[in-house]
Amino acid sequence: MTSGFDQPGERAGEELGATYSQTVIDHIRNPRNVGALTNADGHATITGPCGDTMGIWLTVRDGVIHEARFLTDGCGVTVAAGSVVTQLARGRMAAEALNISQQDVVAALGGLPQEHLHCALLAVNTLKSAIREYLSLRNEPWKRAYRRP
Ligand code: FES
Repeated sequence: MTSGFDQPGERAGEELGATYSQTVIDHIRNPRNVGALTNADGHATITGPCGDTMGIWLTVRDGVIHEARFLTDGCGVTVAAGSVVTQLARGRMAAEALNISQQDVVAALGGLPQEHLHCALLAVNTLKSAIREYLSLRNEPWKRAYRRP
């Protein structure tokens, strides 16, 4: 899995502008928080129904999400959704970040076309799964020994 994604050219940017908000285009062109974290406190990788995959890695300090990073092999909107959902998660209490919704990501992106709403859902579901892993490992640290690489 990579963040693999081509930077759209200016002409492509004009075409994107007819379909996506400027916020979406900005996050497609300059995604924040890209990359994996070694020794993450919480991690999840999910493949959505469309076949695209997202991974999210978290570090947590005193219950607060300190770092949140993502990788995806999905479409540009998925890149934008991963970028925004990691921004929304950083600095929040982990338990509170479980409340981040698909609607929150869509709103933060300035809206999405109907056919790309599932990209925001993939990002949110991956975040929630990573948080749940963190909470599970916090409560039962021995599970780290059985964690998938
Ligand atoms: Fe599959 Fe965006 S098209 S997540």
